[in-house]
Amino acid sequence: MKFAYATAGVGTGGFGYGGLIEKTALKTEMVTCAIPEKYQHLHGLKIGLLADLHFDEYGDSALVHHAVKVINQEKVDLVMLAGDFVSNKAASLEPLGEILKDLRAGIGVFAVLGNHDHWMGREHAVKFLKRAGIRLLKNESEDLGDFLIAGQESAWGGRPDFSKIPSRSAVDKPIVLGWHEPDTFDWYEDDRVILQLSGHTHGGQICVPGYGPVLLPFLGKKYAAGLYQKDSGNLYVSRGLGVITIPARFCCPPEVTLLTLESRVRKA
Ligand SMILES: [Fe+2]
Repeated sequence: MKFAYATAGVGTGGFGYGGLIEKTALKTEMVTCAIPEKYQHLHGLKIGLLADLHFDEYGDSALVHHAVKVINQEKVDLVMLAGDFVSNKAASLEPLGEILKDLRAGIGVFAVLGNHDHWMGREHAVKFLKRAGIRLLKNESEDLGDFLIAGQESAWGGRPDFSKIPSRSAVDKPIVLGWHEPDTFDWYEDDRVILQLSGHTHGGQICVPGYGPVLLPFLGKKYAAGLYQKDSGNLYVSRGLGVITIPARFCCPPEVTLLTLESRVRKA
């Protein structure tokens, strides 16, 4: 009871601050991901990550432009857009595409769909991504020579199928995987997946200092935000760029992520 009261106090008192300031206070997260030495040919690979733009719901063009600029300045090798482009209004996809089409990456710009993209009718997102020159991965993978880029459908809104990723006997290469919901990190055992890129949680959107996220969504409860590791694999969960339900963030700023793969012995 005491906790519920304290949470409500932070929510009410912090609303103005979260809505007016932190919702647009883009934070660039620079992350290094340790990968097994046997994949040292990927040492130095740079990846840009954006997630959960929810552009129709309190969407902010300046914020998205800013994130695109940060990624382009870094001259990344590839970009992953980890889904939930809008919450439910397909009409907002066109202006979003006009901004995202400016993304630049040496290898390419890839995307997976989020639960909201599926619920809205995924054909809208499929069309908008194609027009913006972004490669959508729907239970698909692409062999990029040194590694595979793969993407699963949303585990909440779609029908993911991990068996569509080529078997090790067919392609024994490291895999970078996009999958909107982070808790799917526990759903597979494949040590070729050196990095899973996810969003979905918004990092909680409203966080209480010393406690953490107040509310996390289905399939986003275990891995809320940041870098996680298992065996030889990494999971990175973005706090996302947009907001949902309320136009506020608190102790949880919007994020653009720049990840660099690093071949080294990982600390236990
Ligand atoms: Fe989501």
